[in-house]
Order: sequence, then C-alpha cells, then structure tokens
Amino acid sequence: MKAVVLTGITPAEEVQLCEVPVPVVKPGWVLVKVHGFGMNHSEQILRLSEIEAPYIQKPVIPGIECVGEIADPSDSTFHNGQRVVALMGGMGRSFNGSYAEYALLPVHHVFAVNTALSWDALAAVPETFFTAWGSLFECLQLTKADTLLIRGATCALGYAAIQLAKGLGCKVIATTHRESKLPLLKEADEAVLDDGKLVGTVHWITKALELIGPRTLHDTLQVMEHGGIVCNTGILGGVFTLDGFDPIKDIPNGVYLTGFFSNYPTQQVMDDIFAFLDEHGIVPSYGAHFPFSQVKDACIALDSHQTNGKIIVTMD
Ligand SMILES: NC(=O)c1ccc[n+]([C@@H]2O[C@H](COP(=O)([O-])OP(=O)(O)OC[C@H]3O[C@@H](n4cnc5c(N)ncnc54)[C@H](OP(=O)(O)O)[C@@H]3O)[C@@H](O)[C@H]2O)c1
Repeated sequence: MKAVVLTGITPAEEVQLCEVPVPVVKPGWVLVKVHGFGMNHSEQILRLSEIEAPYIQKPVIPGIECVGEIADPSDSTFHNGQRVVALMGGMGRSFNGSYAEYALLPVHHVFAVNTALSWDALAAVPETFFTAWGSLFECLQLTKADTLLIRGATCALGYAAIQLAKGLGCKVIATTHRESKLPLLKEADEAVLDDGKLVGTVHWITKALELIGPRTLHDTLQVMEHGGIVCNTGILGGVFTLDGFDPIKDIPNGVYLTGFFSNYPTQQVMDDIFAFLDEHGIVPSYGAHFPFSQVKDACIALDSHQTNGKIIVTMD
C-alpha cells in the first residue's frame, strides 16, 4: 500500500508516498481501508519536531483520524465493508495512523457510522466535530435559549461549532482578529472584530467557546452573564497556561470555567453527532480538499496556515 512514513523531521516539501506492506490484523485491532482523513496541527508538530521525542516509535505513519470501511474485522463485531470513523487514542503517534491506504487500528477507537455523507464531507467530521460537539454539549450544555460566543472562530473548529450551534438554533456571536475574515463568519448571527478586549463590545453571553485560549480567557470570563459557562478548548493565541491566574478574583461570581480534551471518543457520542447532522441537514464544511497522491501539497497547506477551515484528503 501507499503511505507517508516518517523517520525523522520532515518539512512538508519533503513528504512523499512510499510502498509499505498492508498491516496484518491481530486480536483487538481491525484493518480499515482508508477513504479519507482530515489534517490536524498536531500532525504538523509531530512531523516538524515531536518525531525526535524518545516516546515516538519510528518509523511512524502519521494521521490522528480517518474515515473508511472495515477491510478485516479481526475478532471484533464489525463486518467487512462497514463504514467507520477513527480518531485519537495514540493514532499516528503510538501506532501507525491514517496517511495510508490501510490502517490497523485498536477496535475501541474505531466507530461505526450511519450517514449518507460523501467521503469528503465525512472526512471533515471525526476530530473537529467530536471536539466541537464535546465542547458545546458536554461542557457548555448548550441550549437553544443560549447566546454563544465563539472566540477565534476562523478555524476548522470554529466553523464546525457555528454549524452545530446554528443547527441547534441558538444565537451565535463569532469573533476573528482579522477584519478581512469577518465575511467568513456569515453563518453566525454576529461577526465581531476581536482586538483582545470584548468587555463592553459583546453582551448577554451565556456560553462561550474559547478557542484563542489563555491569551484572552480572562477577558472572556468578564463578558459572561451570571450562570454562564466558558469552555476553553483552543490555544490559537499561542499562550498555553494561565500564569498569575487568581480564581477568586478572575472568575466572576456565578460564572463557570471548564475545558475540553478530545482524547476520549465513544460510540454513543459519534451516534449523537451523526444523528444531529442528519436531523439538521448539516453538511460539514471544509476549507481545502486534496487527493492522496497530493498529500505533500496538503501538508504544505497545513504548514502555511492559509486555509480557512479543515484540510481534507481523500483517496484518489
Ligand atoms: N482541546 C482539544 O482537544 C482540541 C482539539 C482540536 C483542536 N484544538 C485546538 O483548537 C484550536 C483550533 O484548531 P483547528 O484545528 O480548528 O485550527 P485551524 O483550522 O488550523 O485554524 C488555525 C487558524 O486559526 C486562525 N485564528 C483565529 N484566531 C486566531 C488567533 N487569535 N490567533 C491565531 N490564530 C487565529 C488562524 O488564522 P488567522 O490568524 O488568519 O485568523 C489560523 O490559521 C487550536 O488551538 C487547536 O489546538 C483543541
């Protein structure tokens, strides 16, 4: 089969497909014929630096998510040809991932899907919609009555969160730090230019999805209504921790702070996501689409940060 195989630091321009054997199934693992995959910045980090870490077994096929069909169910209850998605759990890091025609994956990180979505739309779902879903519904307990602030919305996760929240029917205020990108937020009820300070600019916010992260989190907490919830899911601002954070003074009385980490997908959540997409007629959007033969160009696009939305790759 064709696959991207990393042995060391690999700039996008040097990514290439090689021929490797199709993996042999073993108990507890299923063989998935990959039809497509979404690309993630953690894969860029792996390719450009993390690959040198001692805990990464090399060579490794990257890719933390995929969509496809069961090619060999091994000892699982899956059947041949069954449509599945797979994500996380060490995929593309602790064991070979999705930048390949076939992937051998632990059965507990492979989920059956019942959907009429095309392979390209489906490829935009697993990691991005799982994260958006968990942030909005598990952490923020979003309801139709809410006014949702999405801070740093011009990213794959932001666009997915807008699609889900508008599907639910709540009011969405989405921000970008680039005036030129305001039109990209047209599906939200309001698009707001974010200069790092939203106090006095946005009002009546009951739920907030913080994608910029600790850089703006303090300000986000200050715009919340009493009883409001903030979920920190992103770190687009490049600041990873809250230094000097004083929870007593920095979290207003009656405001709640939570965070989402996408490492624990379940079949139930996947079923809920696809049922919701189907019920609300949501076709997941993406920013760029490459055939597998051009996976190098997909990596170049990922590293250049110029794509608005998810980058997906489907098999030729
Ligand atoms: N918690 C989790 O489990 C989890 C899971 C997945 C992703 N994430 C995080 O969620 C965030 C979004 O991920 P993604 O994959 O959706 O990203 P993405 O599609 O790759 O989007 C990256 C883009 O976000 C834009 N952006 C918007 N506001 C920004 C700001 N204030 N500073 C810098 N860039 C900004 C940048 O474009 P412009 O600067 O041109 O606007 C950048 O090109 C990331 O921080 C990611 O690490 C978290």
